[in-house]
Amino acid sequence: MNADGRSRLDQLPEWNALAAHRQELGDAQLRELFAQDPERAERFTVQVGDLHLDYSKHLVTDETLRLLRELAQATGVTQLRDAMFRGEKINTTEDRSVLHVALRAPHSAVIESDGKDVIPEVHAVLTKMGPFVDRIHSGEWRGHTGERIKNIVNIGIGGSDLGPAMAFEALRAYTHRELQFRFVSNVDGADLHEALRGLDPAETLFVIASKTFTTIETITNATSARRWLLRGLEAGQEAVAKHFVALSTNAEKVAEFGINTDNMFEFWDWVGGRYSFDSAIGLSLMIAIGQEHFREMLAGFHLVDEHFRCAPPEENAPMLLGLLGIWYGQFFDAQAHAVLPYSHYLSKFTAYLQQLDMESNGKSVDREGNPVGWQTGPVVWGTPGTNGQHAYYQLLHQGTKMIPADLIGFANPVADLSPKLAGHHDLLMANLFAQGQALAFGKTAEEVAAEGVAPELVPHKTFPGNRPTTTILAAELSPSVLGQLIALYEHKVFVQGAVWNIDSFDQWGVELGKVLAKRVEPALTEGAEVPGLDASTARLVATYRSLRGR
Ligand code: F6P
Repeated sequence: MNADGRSRLDQLPEWNALAAHRQELGDAQLRELFAQDPERAERFTVQVGDLHLDYSKHLVTDETLRLLRELAQATGVTQLRDAMFRGEKINTTEDRSVLHVALRAPHSAVIESDGKDVIPEVHAVLTKMGPFVDRIHSGEWRGHTGERIKNIVNIGIGGSDLGPAMAFEALRAYTHRELQFRFVSNVDGADLHEALRGLDPAETLFVIASKTFTTIETITNATSARRWLLRGLEAGQEAVAKHFVALSTNAEKVAEFGINTDNMFEFWDWVGGRYSFDSAIGLSLMIAIGQEHFREMLAGFHLVDEHFRCAPPEENAPMLLGLLGIWYGQFFDAQAHAVLPYSHYLSKFTAYLQQLDMESNGKSVDREGNPVGWQTGPVVWGTPGTNGQHAYYQLLHQGTKMIPADLIGFANPVADLSPKLAGHHDLLMANLFAQGQALAFGKTAEEVAAEGVAPELVPHKTFPGNRPTTTILAAELSPSVLGQLIALYEHKVFVQGAVWNIDSFDQWGVELGKVLAKRVEPALTEGAEVPGLDASTARLVATYRSLRGR
């Protein structure tokens, strides 16, 4: 029993009904499920805004979906969703509202946190970002020596890097090509070194993105960037104002760093880092694509927010995707989930989703602090097709693990490809469709043998199939579609966390490593004694020091 009097997930009749249903389903084959129901593809497809989602290649029947929806109902998913939209503090371990949905709500919306409507502040920041971006584009904003800004270097990590960097890649076709963008996150000096190569400090703007403005990697990189700038310009601290802006919730730390808070774009503690790139954290992206396209992206997010908030469970795409993940994690022992975009522009999409999903749902205690007795978030991984096909898809097709996958593709190539290059597109998409087909339906031993394959090779050339996929299609990768896609995944993650009864909005699991790194660093630099250091780490530290000649 939970503290609020609800039964634990694994004691719910709805959970047990799913377990029994899984037994009944046995090794039902997708081939059979499709043969039994000619309408399956049509019935198991949902349209959300511009996104066309086909979930017919999943190992589910109508009964499975009904039981999964009952589980969602029994675990209060819609109640938690409504509490999020009302601004209640559903991030209980940090005592915070979870209001990324407010970042893309229209001006007319009213969403409260701590009894205060947050929408006016959200729009005030957007209104400050837009003209700033326009001033960069027009050349009105100049560097300390009067040069036009031509290079934007975003310095941040985690949610303050992955979102803007991913979206910049995704929307490259919409970017101001005359500007150069670099994204620096790693505290490895090589990252900043490579990013600054060939840049003229007089033409460079640093965008320091950090919710807390205390993250060691970001502050270290920002400090080195400031040194590079001031040395390059042979200027004093006064040059910082024209070359550094901050995106943060922490005005005090921003000022302490030496950035004028007039050049700070604010957001709030009710925006989680991994849910933040549609806040001020998206400034570099807005510089890249312009405020109109940025607003189109926000509208795309909002469209899916409204769908999630209002659509009935049987048509609710984030609900469906979340429940399907729970089905495989718990009842098929699937440990991983692959996200396979058939778009070069989505090269950073899966890395972005890794933080969104794994930092949110990589938990093993429930909201009350009890160890969970069920699977939680999967290992999320993947790279753009078709590259993956020539690398790891072998395991997806014939390995011993079940890895459900999302195949994401677009009907049209982006606008600025030459006709010859745009001609590659059908081949790209043929690969997406072929993979979904091969994963679902495989190739039987009989089919292989019928091709005249030598009997000893038949097992090697047989494809078991029954590997589930969701196919997500849209007309093109526009700013709005990107927003829709991200919101879809955000809410999918939400649904899963709600069913698992975990807090999807904290990330205590990253803290221990940070504390230990601080403790170990003096041992590396000065050979200081670290009390209680384990034998393995002590030896590694000694080896490191000797290899560094210390
Ligand atoms: O350490 C994890 C984390 O807190 C992420 O959740 C966050 O996105 C990242 O660090 C960066 O944090 P900040 O924006 O405060 O620098």
